[in-house]
Amino acid sequence: MTLNLAIVGGDGTGPEVVAEGLKVLEAVAKDMNFTVGTKEFPFGAKHFLSTGNVLTDDDIEQLKSYDAIYLGAVGHPDVKPGILEKGLLLKMRFDLDQYINLRPVKLYEGIETPLAGKTTKDIDFVCVRENTEDLYCGNGGLTRKGTPNEISTQEMIATRFGAERCVRYAFDLARARKAAGYPGRLTLVHKTNVLTYCGDTWHRAFTEVGEADYPEIERDYHHVDACCMYMVTRPELYDVIVVPNMFGDIITDLGAAIAGGMGIASSGNLNPDKSNNNPSMFEPIHGSSPDIAGQNKANPLAAIDSLAVLLQETGRKKDEDVLIKAGDRVAKAVQSITHKFTGKRLDRSGFSTTEIGQMVLDAL
Ligand code: IPM
Ligand code: MG
Repeated sequence: MTLNLAIVGGDGTGPEVVAEGLKVLEAVAKDMNFTVGTKEFPFGAKHFLSTGNVLTDDDIEQLKSYDAIYLGAVGHPDVKPGILEKGLLLKMRFDLDQYINLRPVKLYEGIETPLAGKTTKDIDFVCVRENTEDLYCGNGGLTRKGTPNEISTQEMIATRFGAERCVRYAFDLARARKAAGYPGRLTLVHKTNVLTYCGDTWHRAFTEVGEADYPEIERDYHHVDACCMYMVTRPELYDVIVVPNMFGDIITDLGAAIAGGMGIASSGNLNPDKSNNNPSMFEPIHGSSPDIAGQNKANPLAAIDSLAVLLQETGRKKDEDVLIKAGDRVAKAVQSITHKFTGKRLDRSGFSTTEIGQMVLDAL
């Protein structure tokens, strides 16, 4: 089989960390007898500054002919904040209907957490963030701008369809984790005491789907403010979290922080449905770190770990077991070398980008 990837190295350190991920991919593919085809796309700040385009509808159509998208990072000081975020990341999520943002929060051996007394056993859960609705829809407007009577609105959108498909994905994940020895507990995070409309839609979708189709999965509910507290004081409460877009954005940064920081946080923007060919997009959560770009200093572990998620999730979508197994191997290889970072910071470990890539290759 051939895995066809669209590669978007992007800006700053993005291309460097993606290059390490691709070396790992090449090695695992060779060993497991599948082939990899890659095509690089130039999207990012440079492309925008030279062409005026971020990501066109035509680009989106082109991306649809790939099995998945592997992205480094976008963002550059010369481009006003918001342009690449909205024009590239959010456009990809919306146009390719990547309705799940999968963000594992897992503390690896040797990685330091800021939480005193918590170990790898306590911090091991997955956030399933809805990725296409909520405040991110951008519905709203600004009238009488610049006058004392200025009005701005930005509406929170929840649809039963959107909440339900996200909740179902999260229940399936909790079920799969339960089979692998995890508690099999799904926690809905919202703010139903204040957001009584959107919260109600989510809570009923969660309860009805759970009762009808996932009776063996324990259901729990936390308000988002309490969730922030528990993520710091009792992270062991969580197995799988399902959360709408905006709250999910916030708590997954907190999640990255308790698991050791951005240097290790991976993510997938998924369209998991087998009924379409929309590719999912995989990226480290971290940014493009323009200050150290081109210096072989960035830590590629989050990008390599995102590649592991790419292989696992693309394998699931395409029913290709070999990809799932390859992803598991890459994830294991990453986890087997993190002890080398004991007592070091992930972002200033003293190891170069290529040295860390080589460590993973050796472990593989
Ligand atoms: C994220 C980021 C994005 C988001 C920004 C860059 C648009 O914060 O992936 O979490 O808000 O979703
Ligand atoms: Mg964010």
